[in-house]
Amino acid sequence: MGDVKINNLRDWLTEVEKIGELARIKKDVDPVLEMSSLAYLNGRNPGHPTLLFEKPKGFDTGSVLFNPIGGSYNRLALSFREKPGRRPLDLVQQIKNSFKKVSPEYVAEKDAPIFENYLTSDKIDLFKFPIPQHWPRDGGKYIGTGDIVITQDPDSGRYNVGTYRQMAMEKDKVGFFTSPGKGGGLDRVKWWEQGKPLPVVSVYGVDPLLMILGSTGFANHESEFDYAGGFAGSPIKLVKGKVTGIPFPAECEFAVEGYVYPDRTLSEGPFGEFTGYYGKPGDKCPYLQIEAVYHRNNPIFTAAMMADKPGANEQSVFLGAMRSAKIWRDMEAAGVAGIKGVWSPPAGAGGWGMTVVSIKQMFAGHAQQAAMVAAGSAGGGFYSKFYYIVDDDVDPTDLEEVMWAATTRCRCSEDIEIWRNTWSTPLDPSKNPPDDRPYGSKAFIFACKQHKYINSFSKRTAMTKDSYDNAHARWKELGIPGEAAIIGFFDDLKK
Ligand SMILES: Cc1cc2nc3c(=O)[nH]c(=O)nc-3n(C[C@H](O)[C@H](O)[C@H](O)COP(=O)(O)O)c2cc1C
Repeated sequence: MGDVKINNLRDWLTEVEKIGELARIKKDVDPVLEMSSLAYLNGRNPGHPTLLFEKPKGFDTGSVLFNPIGGSYNRLALSFREKPGRRPLDLVQQIKNSFKKVSPEYVAEKDAPIFENYLTSDKIDLFKFPIPQHWPRDGGKYIGTGDIVITQDPDSGRYNVGTYRQMAMEKDKVGFFTSPGKGGGLDRVKWWEQGKPLPVVSVYGVDPLLMILGSTGFANHESEFDYAGGFAGSPIKLVKGKVTGIPFPAECEFAVEGYVYPDRTLSEGPFGEFTGYYGKPGDKCPYLQIEAVYHRNNPIFTAAMMADKPGANEQSVFLGAMRSAKIWRDMEAAGVAGIKGVWSPPAGAGGWGMTVVSIKQMFAGHAQQAAMVAAGSAGGGFYSKFYYIVDDDVDPTDLEEVMWAATTRCRCSEDIEIWRNTWSTPLDPSKNPPDDRPYGSKAFIFACKQHKYINSFSKRTAMTKDSYDNAHARWKELGIPGEAAIIGFFDDLKK
């Protein structure tokens, strides 16, 4: 990856504009509920652009980019510095093959545009900037959604990059909600156990590649900054915060820095979440006490709306694809053979809810091994409720094929397994009463041929490759409208 030269959000917007997928909104729009309503309706249209609100109503500085990726695989490809126009599963496979660590590079303050403005003490007032409220029942304005939050493991020194929602609570305080088991929360506990506050930098206008990696499940000892350099094709440029020393991108748009103290909480949430529900009720939550603000002139805030539909839900397409790539990569690293594809459908709780793994079954227990590793991996362990295992003749991205496989190959009495008390989040609305959260559960649906009888399993009706080629060759001549479909499975009539 790295064919398209992009170093920051502004470069990314230039490339997106070139392919006609950026809509600049030049009239006044209110950050409170108006931007999000427009973004939701926009996201439900096929082929929608990303919306850059250049004149937030009531503010004389800053603009808001709502749902940078939205439902677009082109914008996703550009985020990975790839040319647009890839088929989703090809893009997933390419991402899967491109996990590589390239250490970040630290640059001098004079070479870091984020130092254009530096505010401390009584100059800090988040409410001078356009902060959206997304949904009418949200507990407040959320300055951090399409963000990254950087923390450090005090023992190993590793920097974690997580995308966590951040509510502006007061002019110098933002909420810090992390689901149990997530990197930022685990770091927080370690600092507090050592009797120290957690140092944090949160970035609210960011290169989409970093937001994507911040949302992806990495092993807790790894730093997303290293993989970002690998995907970008060059090291990510960082600077160190003046207060905490925590690093953050030199070319980001807006960043805040400070500490989270063990004995201080404020009310946070609810927030309209990736599930399409408000999730857990509003609650007391630790917060980041801001001691410094950094921003570029006229900063661009990246807002990620959560909703019930792909496109309207910012994470659906990017997380669906990225999670698929990460699970695939984790399965290969764990030694699972014969994987043909992995797909987390964008419609399933923003890409978190369901995963389909397509494998060529090669030995007894292979399908079960694939399921256990996928569901136990760093990329696939969290939330996911349904794992479908299908054979290699089934395209995992085609949910009609997956449903066909489930309804023809799965023996429900034998081929559905349930795991209980699995890694999940208090945001899952299905587990009630809410006190029972965050424990989740998972269903494994083996929608593949019974291995023991794989050789005598009923033959799938399929044409020969010769018939297929002939049909394609004669399609136009016969005057049949449209194009002949592309398929990838044929009967070789051998066995
Ligand atoms: C827009 C957006 C907002 C998110 N907000 C939160 C959040 O508030 N808390 C949380 O734990 N995870 C949140 N997530 C999911 C995490 O980003 C994800 O679980 C990721 O793996 C966290 O990084 P970590 O594994 O380094 O902790 C959000 C994801 C997205 C895309």
